[in-house]
Amino acid sequence: MICFQGSACGKGIGKMYYPDELVEEVRMKNDIVDVVSGYVRIQKKGSSYFGLCPFHNEKSPSFSVSQSKQMYYCFGCGAGGNVFTFIMEYENYSFPEAIKFLADRAGVNLPEAEYNEEARKKESRRTKLLEVNKEAAKYFYYQLRSERGQAGFRYLHGRELSDETIKKFGLGFANVTSDDLVRYLKSKGYEDKLILEAGLASFDEKFGLHDKFWNRVMFPIQDSNHRVIGFGGRVMGDGKPKYLNSPETMIFDKSRNLYGLNFARTSRAGNIILCEGYMDVIAMHQAGFTQAAASLGTAFTAGQANLLRRYVNEVILAYDSDGAGVMAALRAIGILKEVGLTGKVLNLEPYKDPDEFIKNRGKDAFDLRIKQAENSFFFELRMLKRDYDLNDPESKTRFHREIAKKLCGFSEEVERENYIEAVAEKYHIGYDSLRKLVLSYAAQTGLASPAVRPKSGIQTRKDPEENKKKPQKLLLTWLVEEPKVYSKIKKYISPEDFTEDLYKKVAEKLFADFEAGTVHPAAIISLFTDEEEQREVAEVFNTRLPRLETKSEQEKAFHDIVLAVKRSSLEYSSSRLGGDILALNQVIEGKKALEELSKTHISLD
Ligand code: GTP
Ligand code: MN
Repeated sequence: MICFQGSACGKGIGKMYYPDELVEEVRMKNDIVDVVSGYVRIQKKGSSYFGLCPFHNEKSPSFSVSQSKQMYYCFGCGAGGNVFTFIMEYENYSFPEAIKFLADRAGVNLPEAEYNEEARKKESRRTKLLEVNKEAAKYFYYQLRSERGQAGFRYLHGRELSDETIKKFGLGFANVTSDDLVRYLKSKGYEDKLILEAGLASFDEKFGLHDKFWNRVMFPIQDSNHRVIGFGGRVMGDGKPKYLNSPETMIFDKSRNLYGLNFARTSRAGNIILCEGYMDVIAMHQAGFTQAAASLGTAFTAGQANLLRRYVNEVILAYDSDGAGVMAALRAIGILKEVGLTGKVLNLEPYKDPDEFIKNRGKDAFDLRIKQAENSFFFELRMLKRDYDLNDPESKTRFHREIAKKLCGFSEEVERENYIEAVAEKYHIGYDSLRKLVLSYAAQTGLASPAVRPKSGIQTRKDPEENKKKPQKLLLTWLVEEPKVYSKIKKYISPEDFTEDLYKKVAEKLFADFEAGTVHPAAIISLFTDEEEQREVAEVFNTRLPRLETKSEQEKAFHDIVLAVKRSSLEYSSSRLGGDILALNQVIEGKKALEELSKTHISLD
């Protein structure tokens, strides 16, 4: 049995069990080249297929798919894995969803998964919550089209939404009466507790269970797979609160979803326009800007930035042009920078938000504003400038110092130099003096280190042990690339010598496969459910070995790797040595093996 321990996977699947053989069957019956071809145009080049990576925006293909390994790997962004990982990433599915999808595709019958008790509850709770939200969305949708919903229709039409747009976004209406939805859902068999948990109703002593939303137009909020996970409801007029939003639930994580992303992610615009409001998203989509998305009434988060990074390199901020909007934009710029996304800022003046702009100026004018969107660094400087009086030398100097400090934020020299040049010109500062100022600040405080580009939503752990990991990783790579070396090292190296948990797990399976004579690297990936771990394993299997000229150079490199692995293994076990005689013996044995190994020549023939 494989344990799909979901605690670290962030997708909330909990523990669940499918037999190994079944997971393997589904994987083998879904050829990765076939599956990927359904999403990405790939072409055969040598032994692999290449195409444009669907997980980051690029102009030349660095996304590779290997038929023999049944794996994909992007040399640009590091995305990688087997057919399960691909579907999970592309469709944003959990593992159970991906396996279901692929089993259906290949006509494999999937039995009920054997969950443990807790996982079963959790998974079915999620399913139920999704179901009840979908049912509510349907209900609101039909209410809008009923007699009583005409007020809603009038409101939406008044805001210049076409019937087609209203349909596309599944907009709806909540009646004036306060327990319609509750009654409807109960008639469909949903329990009070679930309706409450979904945030569709409130409870108090006086009224009992009653609808949370009433007399509002309803905006269903969908995740990137078009599943309804919550709602925003707007008053039709000036009442307060203007919007009422679903609370966060097991399926509605506001920091990891964006309104409109389900459509925006397949737009081929090459950027995402990020705005604040539901109405803004809808207005932009209606005008043809299908790359628009909005955060969910909360501040933009790093989780959302990472989500966007799957689809684009560039994010254009179209926040409200008021003070709060500017503050929000400045915060968002920082977050975009942190994950390595390029930010630009769209100027909406003299209008408040994209919706109003488009209504007044039309889509061509909006398109022009997109093209003119300001580099986010220049935007930051322009906003900074407002705090200084450039007619006062004292204040002006302080402004220049602030600029210099900010310029230290560019870690790459070329980029920094380009910005120094551009800023000097823009703000009429002598190039040399600005450059000197930057360098003096850099000397005091250091330059920014390069932006970490985490490979996924899960932040990679910074590891001072990186150097110890590398030989272990390379040894695994070597074993996969050149299986014949296995017989040469098995005398010296066992899976226990891999001190990194992840590598040890890979090694255990790989060594067992070698002994059995059947090696399926792609199957090994299925042992992991954590997205980050799957990527790391894919990387192990897709790293190119150092190209060395002569055989003896190669043998030396290989020998060094094996030695380094053995040495760090020994250091590790020595460091954990208590008064345990058995362990002590092991260390002594290990020392002997290491000595022998260092004297032994390992031939690669
Ligand atoms: P319109 O006034 O209908 O054009 O709305 P908008 O989309 O322009 O929204 P606005 O810029 O006023 O607010 C941006 C987002 O903040 C909205 O889409 C909501 O998600 C959220 N929001 C706005 N007002 C409220 C409120 O009163 N309560 C809550 N909880 N959220 C709100
Ligand atoms: Mn608005």
